[in-house]
Amino acid sequence: MALIIKNNVSLKKYNTFGIDVNASAFAKMEHIENIHEALEASKGNPFLILGGGSNVLFTKDYEGFVFINQILGKGILSETEDEIVVWAHSGENWHEFVLWTIQNGAFGLENLSLIPGSVGAAPMQNIGAYGTEIKDWCLKIEAIDCKTKELVIFNHVDCHFGYRESVFKNVFKNKYVITKVFFKLHKASKWTPNTNYGDIQKVLLEQGIENPNPKDISNAVIQIRSSKLPNPKELGNAGSFFKNPVIDINLFETLKSKFPQIPNYPDKNGVKVPAGWLIEFCGFKGMKSGNTGSHEKQALVIVNYSNATGREIFEYSQKIIEIVKDTFAIDLEREVNII
Ligand code: FAD
Ligand code: EPU
Repeated sequence: MALIIKNNVSLKKYNTFGIDVNASAFAKMEHIENIHEALEASKGNPFLILGGGSNVLFTKDYEGFVFINQILGKGILSETEDEIVVWAHSGENWHEFVLWTIQNGAFGLENLSLIPGSVGAAPMQNIGAYGTEIKDWCLKIEAIDCKTKELVIFNHVDCHFGYRESVFKNVFKNKYVITKVFFKLHKASKWTPNTNYGDIQKVLLEQGIENPNPKDISNAVIQIRSSKLPNPKELGNAGSFFKNPVIDINLFETLKSKFPQIPNYPDKNGVKVPAGWLIEFCGFKGMKSGNTGSHEKQALVIVNYSNATGREIFEYSQKIIEIVKDTFAIDLEREVNII
């Protein structure tokens, strides 16, 4: 079907913060050909590809084209005795895709269950949770160059995945539309459970499960996430608003002498400290400020209590950045894409 472009469309239901801004032009893409039409129609104008809108904050109306990616399709490409290569078009829902991989005996993504959004946005910030990231499983990516409209293959090494980073989030931002993502996963013969992070082991033991299968792990992750993170359908949010900062060892030692209880994790570039702890320490956890505030169970998550504007949320996040900086001399970086 040809692309149908509408004017002045509210984006409220297309972003999980629930921000009510308008896009001056708007269309849903359901087939790969629609991407070519979209790039042609928006030529010379600003445009934005959106999947689930779960990692964006709109601070104003979007004066340009917003294209919602609903391009579906997934399958098995090849298998060996131990491994299986699967693919999905970028408009597939991430969590449904993860469940499908498990049903099809392709394991590895189970710790990434229940992350909102689309398959196509997942490599953008190298989504991660509960001890694994996309970069551990992504084989290659197909994308369309927005200028030449040619199909380009990004092998794993070309993506420059890092903590909540990839080339698509920085140097190539808005330069490519990701169309298809391939994953090399494990068959049962090669799979080992990854239960080291957080409460996974505890939840499994509470359920009396000693030798978990991938579905058990997926269920445990779903249970933990549902108990901590607000459901965007009930309370607008975009997950962690900030990244966990990695600080240099000297600053860490200074902070440790002042705040002996500061949690910390080793990192190849220094020491990682949980932003949630820093923000909670500064008194923001559960705070309500106008229509926005910090979630009562997870200080790293900023929420929209009712009809907050994106500007209001942005300014609240600025206040957090300033107070954390004054208290710990640490610069918090936003994880969410500000638009
Ligand atoms: P969108 O918000 O639609 O887009 C994000 C960015 O990617 C935009 O810049 C957009 O232009 C670009 N983009 C989208 N699709 C494409 C494409 N096909 N080609 C090129 N660019 C594209 N993230 C984690 O890493 N770990 C978590 O545990 C996690 N938990 C979350 C929990 C909650 C409750 C919420 C609301 C969010 C959470 N997130 C988490 C953040 C979010 O789910 C991920 O970043 C997700 O990958 C975003 O997908 P999306 O389709 O909604 O992206
Ligand atoms: N903490 C607090 N107070 C809080 C929240 C956290 O003190 O209010 C401290 C605790 O010490 C806790 C630690 O932070 O042990 C880690 O908390 P949690 O396990 O909840 O993880 P996180 O670091 O806050 C990260 C990701 C999440 C991901 C979880 C699980 C980032 C920015 N966030 O959160 O990803 O789901 O780990 O792996 O790395 C997202 O990116 O949107 C996201 C939700």
